Amino acid sequence: MSELVRFGVSLEKKLLDIFDDLIRRRKYTNRSEAIRDMIRQELVKKTWEADGNVAGAVTFIYDHHERELMNKITDLQHDHQDVIISAQHIHLDHSNCLEIVAVRGRAKNVLKLADLLKAIKGVQHCTLSMAGTGEVVVE
Ligand code: NI
Repeated sequence: MSELVRFGVSLEKKLLDIFDDLIRRRKYTNRSEAIRDMIRQELVKKTWEADGNVAGAVTFIYDHHERELMNKITDLQHDHQDVIISAQHIHLDHSNCLEIVAVRGRAKNVLKLADLLKAIKGVQHCTLSMAGTGEVVVE
C-alpha cells in the first residue's frame, strides 16, 4: 500500500453541507473515502477522454429468436477480439438474452465496439460501463 498523506481542504460551509448530505445518501461512512472515489472517477474519465488504456463492460439485451441478429452480434465480437476479454451470455426468459461483454484496451477501440453493438437493430438497452484498469495515468 502506498504512503497515506493527510491534507486540509477549505470550503464554504454551505458547500460542505451539500457534500455531506450527498455522501450520506450514497452510504459513505467518511469524507475521505468519498473524496478518494471522486478523484479516481475523474482520473478514469480523463483516461477515457485521452484515449488511454481502459477497462469496462458492455451490457445489452436481445431476442435470440432473431437468428440473423444473433449472428451479427457474434460476428462483431469475433472481429473485435483485441478488446474483448470475455463474454457472458445469460438466458433471461423464453425470448430475451442478456450479454455482458468485458472489455479492455484503448478507449477509442472500446467505444467503437460499444457503438457498433448499440447500432445493431434489435440490440436493446445497450450500455457501456466505463472503468479503469487500476493504473493511474497522469499526463
Ligand atoms: Ni440466451
